Amino acid sequence: MHSDIDTAPITLQPATAELRPVIEQLMELFRHDMSEFLGHLPDADGRFGFSRLPLFFDEPEREALVVQCGTAPAGFVLTRRMDEGATSISAFFVVRALRRRGVGRHVALQLLRTRPGAWGIAFQEANSGAARFWRGVATAAVGPENWHEETRPAPTSSPVNLPEDQWIFLDTSR
Ligand SMILES: CC(C)(COP(=O)(O)OP(=O)(O)OC[C@H]1O[C@@H](n2cnc3c(N)ncnc32)[C@H](O)[C@@H]1OP(=O)(O)O)[C@@H](O)C(=O)NCCC(=O)NCCS
Repeated sequence: MHSDIDTAPITLQPATAELRPVIEQLMELFRHDMSEFLGHLPDADGRFGFSRLPLFFDEPEREALVVQCGTAPAGFVLTRRMDEGATSISAFFVVRALRRRGVGRHVALQLLRTRPGAWGIAFQEANSGAARFWRGVATAAVGPENWHEETRPAPTSSPVNLPEDQWIFLDTSR
């Protein structure tokens, strides 16, 4: 176990090109966690992969950020601009050793507060931990009366039959 896991600073920073392999590796762990709720299987090579990941490094309206616990990668965040103008949190992941220690909440609130504006956050209701997490983050960010939820169909581009998405919308510029 990391000796400094309890004391190392948690930071969030844009993932530079050299951190791309780190995000790709952490994406495998995220996709495995999400497969419990989305039902996708690994490819024949045993990897889940995520075909849209390169877009988060190449397109100006998408971003990949890495969470660090001291010098150790501790998670990642992907964001993208939605057609309706809000920034969507497309993926959000904290490694298991650091879960239920407030790391995710710290990172999410830092992100929402340092980038004032409209945000959309999707999750699956069956992912009950994430549902409770995001409702708590939204309330902490803007107060209990200032965010709302919508249920939307999952994107139709997926080869598997995905459950519908639950979305939280909030605006941190108000
Ligand atoms: C969801 C996730 C990001 C939470 O990160 P985390 O660092 O463990 O969250 P925090 O410790 O900041 O939790 C803050 C609060 O959220 C809620 N919460 C977080 N995880 C929870 C869980 N598994 N079950 C129930 N509530 C949970 C709790 O209210 C918690 O406060 P508490 O620990 O005082 O009860 C993390 O579990 C994860 O990466 N999961 C896999 C990927 C995923 O589901 N991402 C979200 C997809 S939309």
